[in-house]
Amino acid sequence: MAIKVGSDAHKVLFCEQFLATHEHYDPETLPWPDLDETQLARLRGVPFWQEVYHTERRAGAIVKAFTPQVEDTLVRDAIALQGVEEARHAELLRVMIARYGLDATEQPLERFPDNLETAFIDFGYGECLDSFLGFGAFKTARQSEFLPESMFKIFDVLMYEETRHIVFFINYMAWRQVVRGRGAAPLRALNSAWFYGRAARRLFGMVQRGQAANDGRDFAVTQASMFLEGFSFRQFVEDCYRENARRMSAFDPDLLQPRLLPRIADAAAVGLRLWERRRPHLRKAA
Ligand SMILES: [Fe+2]
Ligand SMILES: [Fe+2]
Repeated sequence: MAIKVGSDAHKVLFCEQFLATHEHYDPETLPWPDLDETQLARLRGVPFWQEVYHTERRAGAIVKAFTPQVEDTLVRDAIALQGVEEARHAELLRVMIARYGLDATEQPLERFPDNLETAFIDFGYGECLDSFLGFGAFKTARQSEFLPESMFKIFDVLMYEETRHIVFFINYMAWRQVVRGRGAAPLRALNSAWFYGRAARRLFGMVQRGQAANDGRDFAVTQASMFLEGFSFRQFVEDCYRENARRMSAFDPDLLQPRLLPRIADAAAVGLRLWERRRPHLRKAA
């Protein structure tokens, strides 16, 4: 990286790139495809639309609430734009839910913690974790032709924006740590590991609640067999890693990118490959 992390030049770079790559579109006028009965049933059977819709609405609200507290005007402009994009994600989902008759409704938003910056940071790391796993899941779903390609093209718009948010957030956190005199690399790594831990605990809690709520049945029986045909956990971890690298390659190499999750995934994939090699009888027939 040619630019000093935490410098003014760094700040200008990550904010201006974020602002410059904003795309204009209206969720209502996206090229939503007509789905046949089978495709509709598949889309309706996905058990997490409620959670995704709520998460996006909550994201927009948290970012919007935090924005006026940001002192630096350029950083504030960028965070304000992220708030606009998160709100548009919620709008995109609202349009999709209405158009295809999906089972999700607007739920009241939780009260935010008093410290809005902590809420923003927790949200940011949560977004990094969700998106990293989402990259792999998206690839699996797309490859299995779970829905028409035109639908995945629409979701791709959303995935690209989430990738922009992550890159912005990782750079923002590094810059913020340096400005506050806590910018040494080991300190920054420790800080992000701690927040990732919190994000992972929240994600596991959510998965457990989801399983308890519908007992895993809806998705397991009607959908998962198709979605997960030939599913391999190692393959999934590798897809997350590769898709992350592919999506990140679109960004300026002078910007920081998330490193912890790709490293964990890479190490896990190596471990899983070794494990599979020692137990060839467990390997699925190709
Ligand atoms: Fe979003
Ligand atoms: Fe986002």
